[in-house]
Amino acid sequence: MGRTILVTGGAGFIGSNFVLQRIAAGDRVVNLDKLTYAGNLGNLVSIKDHPEHIFVHGGIEDAGLVHELLLAHCPDAIVNFAAESHVDRSIVTPEEFIFTNVVGTFRLLHESLAYYRALPSADQARFRFLHVSTDEVYGSLSKDDPAFTEASAYEPNSPYSASKASSDHLVRAYRHTYGLPTLTTNCSNNYGPYQFPEKLIPLVILNALNGKPLPIYGDGLNVRDWLYVGDHCEAIALVLEKGAVGETYNIGGDSEKTNIDVVTTICAIMDEVRPTNAPHNRLITFVKDRPGHDRRYAVDASKIKQQLGWSQRESFTSGIRLTVEWYLSNPAWIKEVTTGDYRKWITANYESRGAK
Ligand code: NAD
Ligand code: TYD
Repeated sequence: MGRTILVTGGAGFIGSNFVLQRIAAGDRVVNLDKLTYAGNLGNLVSIKDHPEHIFVHGGIEDAGLVHELLLAHCPDAIVNFAAESHVDRSIVTPEEFIFTNVVGTFRLLHESLAYYRALPSADQARFRFLHVSTDEVYGSLSKDDPAFTEASAYEPNSPYSASKASSDHLVRAYRHTYGLPTLTTNCSNNYGPYQFPEKLIPLVILNALNGKPLPIYGDGLNVRDWLYVGDHCEAIALVLEKGAVGETYNIGGDSEKTNIDVVTTICAIMDEVRPTNAPHNRLITFVKDRPGHDRRYAVDASKIKQQLGWSQRESFTSGIRLTVEWYLSNPAWIKEVTTGDYRKWITANYESRGAK
């Protein structure tokens, strides 16, 4: 029999990919998600009636609900994906980020500790709390700086990354002070199926499909290290299984790209699979930069590779093609997520922005 895992934020992009993987692997998943604009049960239709997937609508900050769920389902592990995750939104509405990412994670940790302390010692030995975080907590790199390692200093620059850094510190403190068996992963930018189209890659695919401008902030030379979401989920499962308690693991794609490179690659695939009269790159439009825009992220993933034997399956070349194909094959999912609220955000973020 598989384990029981309490997954938070399992209706979002990475969380739903993780839940689908774990259910396929034979685990039982209790999925706690608040269903904010980013949460979507449409990501989980294939396991809607699966007996080992229990969906619970609620927030990680609801200590009473978390307490009840832990007692009712006795999980062997908790994997915390729940978060506000979009940097641009954190610039407009930072308070929601503090509430979920800091206060929410604190309450989840506190209830987890009470649950852990009441477990029989054999179950305590097995129990893990895995916190999913980001490389953005390390701040911004210059062109020739070495990639972030687990020893890099925390220097978050956006309300999003500052709130994630705070949650990472709380996780560390619950390990150090109270002995909660925690693990933390810091991952680079993900892409793949079910990503909400406010983020660069799905936004550009959908706009290219609809002949709309492809907005590039600033000079388009900011660099991100892209990782296919399925590879990230496998890394998390491996850390859960084999990671040393109290450790942090960086996860990255060894795939640094400028934003302009990413967008022109998507355009070239679209030219091939959905040819139009003129090349898609005619739609590229430079717009005003994001305030405080981090220049470069790059992750050194040698620790998880060497100590736990992780490696990624998809290169950027294969992963981006799979991703474009997934979005083109799922018009019903796209229709469902690009509703009124989505259009409001697109208007607020881009129309007020203007040209560069
Ligand atoms: P997402 O925005 O797609 O999904 C977040 C999910 O959390 C949604 O389903 C939402 O409904 C849920 N949620 C929000 N507030 C909640 C609350 N208070 N209680 C319960 N559920 C709540 O995010 P994502 O891209 O899937 O990211 C998941 C996690 O991975 C986040 O913690 C993020 O910081 C981290 N991360 C993301 C990336 C990336 O590139 N997307 C990279 C590294 C790390
Ligand atoms: P994003 O997907 O929002 O991820 P993050 O900010 O967490 O790295 O953005 C990825 C990069 O793409 C980032 O440098 C900002 C840039 N970007 C654009 O140029 N245009 C856009 O419309 C968006 C959403 C992002």
